[in-house]
Amino acid sequence: MTVTPQYVSEPDRDNLAETARNHLWMHFTRMSTYDSGHVPVIVRGQGPYIWDDGGRRYLDGLAGLFTVQVGHGRSELAEVAAKQASELAYFPLWSYAHPKAIELAERLATLAPGDLNRVFFTTGGGEAVESAWKVAKQYYKLTGRPTKHKVISRSVAYHGTPQGALSITGIPGAKAPFEPLVPGAHKVPNTNFYRATEHADDYTAFGRWAADRIAEAIEFEGPDTVAAVFLEPVQNSGGCFPPPPGYFARVREICDEYDVLLVSDEVICAFGRLGEYFGATRYGYQPDIITCAKGLTSGYSPLGAMIATEAIMEPFLHGTNTFQHGITFGGHPVSCAVALANLDIFEREDLNGHVRRNEGAFRATLEKLLDLPIVGDVRGDGFFYGIELVKDKTTRETFDDAESERLLRGFLSKALFDAGLYCRSDDRGDPVVQLSPPLVCDQAHFDEMEQALRGVLTEAWSRL
Ligand SMILES: Cc1ncc(COP(=O)(O)O)c(C=O)c1O
Repeated sequence: MTVTPQYVSEPDRDNLAETARNHLWMHFTRMSTYDSGHVPVIVRGQGPYIWDDGGRRYLDGLAGLFTVQVGHGRSELAEVAAKQASELAYFPLWSYAHPKAIELAERLATLAPGDLNRVFFTTGGGEAVESAWKVAKQYYKLTGRPTKHKVISRSVAYHGTPQGALSITGIPGAKAPFEPLVPGAHKVPNTNFYRATEHADDYTAFGRWAADRIAEAIEFEGPDTVAAVFLEPVQNSGGCFPPPPGYFARVREICDEYDVLLVSDEVICAFGRLGEYFGATRYGYQPDIITCAKGLTSGYSPLGAMIATEAIMEPFLHGTNTFQHGITFGGHPVSCAVALANLDIFEREDLNGHVRRNEGAFRATLEKLLDLPIVGDVRGDGFFYGIELVKDKTTRETFDDAESERLLRGFLSKALFDAGLYCRSDDRGDPVVQLSPPLVCDQAHFDEMEQALRGVLTEAWSRL
């Protein structure tokens, strides 16, 4: 079946949807949803907009999947990919190198804070997280502390699907089908201030309390057994929890005190999402490792990276020591060439500056929705927001499982899409709508999002 034109005739659309139902195993998808319904098929993108196979336009409120930072349809990135594929389509980084990986590693080392100078490429975010846990374990083995192998991360946080990364992930429902997972991954509270049970009237004190839970977990587990703490700058899952003031400074102190590596998982938060190349820069902390992916190429080709300090690399530089880890397509030449050209666009168009100049307007526009009875909280930073939905604004009562199922899965996602907005409604924590648009968006797009959300959330409330 080869139907991929921009607009597809009705019979061919049905055919395409039918073929998808018969052969395409979609990710994190309840396939039965499409037993009778039409699989949404996206065929084209331009700037912050995407088009489906029927020619209908949508605002891409999620940048694909927190990925398409520079917007869709950048032919210069396609041309760079084609040029690289004709020059050197593929070569591994297994004992050999190629120019684009070298150039990109140097560029990332320059952009990353402090002496995060050593870049290990992967094909995506989960592999970067997996690589970070493995390097932490081997680093401690090589430096005479072989029992340090456990990790600490936060409840409801998502860190990817490989079995190590899934262990680090704090979403019980995503893990249950695959238990037992890699042992040694322990969870601490996240920074959901809206649902704070401690210091609910003092954001800074709440942040201190949340950071101190990490010290407590290290003590419980035994400092000699803990290798790393994995945290996102702004936690995505649960609906965008920014760090309270002082949170990361306290976490850094704790990691130093207990000799534990601080891994900043920036698979979403790097490359402009928060108005800086790295989220750690925005909040002024120094990680030992950064994991990133997604926006590194704006999705024009798959690529991820684990960026480590000189100190972590150091023991691997001697004798027979080798990081026993590799991925065939990690640091693919086409992806590295695309990443370099993507970073050129960031620089040329000052996309980080654009986010910083416009984030206040984005927040203010979304906060207008707080006048709706169903909107409990609007939170986030940069171009990265979660809108928490509640049954009762005063008590902050949330929906029960059946209501959540009816509201999010049964109505919201499709209604928002039908209203011309592609975004995400998520109930891995409390029910939220998430927005993470391409970084080229401006006030007109913010208004478009607000209008679509206002209409659909008003309708959702009337159906409760
Ligand atoms: C913070 C974080 N870590 C890891 C991952 C996994 O990345 P990937 O889907 O590229 O494997 C994600 C994906 O959204 C993420 O948000």
